[in-house]
Amino acid sequence: MVDLEELPGVGPAIAKKLEEAGYDDLMAIAVASPSELAEAIDIGEGTALKIIQAAREKADVGGFETGDVLLERMKERKHLTTGSKSFDELLGGGFETQAITELFGEFGSGKTQIAHQLCVNVQLDESEGGLEGEAIFIDTENTFRPERIIQMAESVGIDGKDALKKIHVANAFNSNHQMMLVDKAIELAKERAIRLLVVDSLTGHFRAEYVGRGALAERQQKLNKHMHMLLKFARLYNAVICVTNQVAARPDVYFGDPTQPIGGHIVGHTAMFRIYLRKSKGGKRIARLIDSPHLPEGEAVFTVKEEGIRD
Ligand code: GTP
Ligand code: MG
Repeated sequence: MVDLEELPGVGPAIAKKLEEAGYDDLMAIAVASPSELAEAIDIGEGTALKIIQAAREKADVGGFETGDVLLERMKERKHLTTGSKSFDELLGGGFETQAITELFGEFGSGKTQIAHQLCVNVQLDESEGGLEGEAIFIDTENTFRPERIIQMAESVGIDGKDALKKIHVANAFNSNHQMMLVDKAIELAKERAIRLLVVDSLTGHFRAEYVGRGALAERQQKLNKHMHMLLKFARLYNAVICVTNQVAARPDVYFGDPTQPIGGHIVGHTAMFRIYLRKSKGGKRIARLIDSPHLPEGEAVFTVKEEGIRD
């Protein structure tokens, strides 16, 4: 545990406030924004910035890293299996930790099914493609189905009830509540080995609440903040973040004109992996990887079966 009072400008009173607000390690402070920190512990933004900069130096984030340090950090990255070999291959081994992966596609394209499968697979041993951890499921549309988890768990040899005990579900009633639940998730992750955080759906509440052109800027700003909080979670806990985004099937828009802000530029920018899902014949689904930082674009075919996501 670090002594926060070693940071310039932090005396016992501020250290206590920081701890109480959940900023109890350098990393949490280092990735905070000045306005967020200022608001959380009731100090000026200038002071907050100084504290953040000092924490960054100590935690060694946000600045230049030498290649060998970067290599070490990259080595900690893990992959979580989807249950489908071809889907995993498309993603370089599965859903990557320390990043956000966005599933977008029309209704019934399989976003929620994949999210359920990840909640089960994250519990598997690393040798089986899991992360030996637990999951948080932020549910905005009442979409979580315990029975489906039991079905998927038992087909990979995990007791259904045991699997459910390692999935922490919360319903988000509106976009503010949804954002607050990420703070709660950080709290929970201090006690439990959370290695997966799902938000299904990321954009539903935001779309419903911020209607019309006039509200767009504010919506995107909030969504941006939300995404950064999710990324912070991913880095703090070497976790997989999976968010869903429903969009009408209009490949002409997505692939014809990449400047179209449908689905939101902000979402596309912060999410490191975007996967476009579409239905195909015979119950098959096609996943297409778009805009990945270090993987080639490509497609994979998978199926949603009784037992879960498979080839
Ligand atoms: P929205 O949330 O409406 O945007 O859709 P989504 O992309 O989340 O779709 P979802 O993941 O809910 O996919 C639903 C589809 O999964 C169904 O239409 C079925 O084809 C398939 N599915 C769901 N449950 C089962 C199951 O128990 N067995 C099989 N074989 N398929 C299932
Ligand atoms: Mg869904």
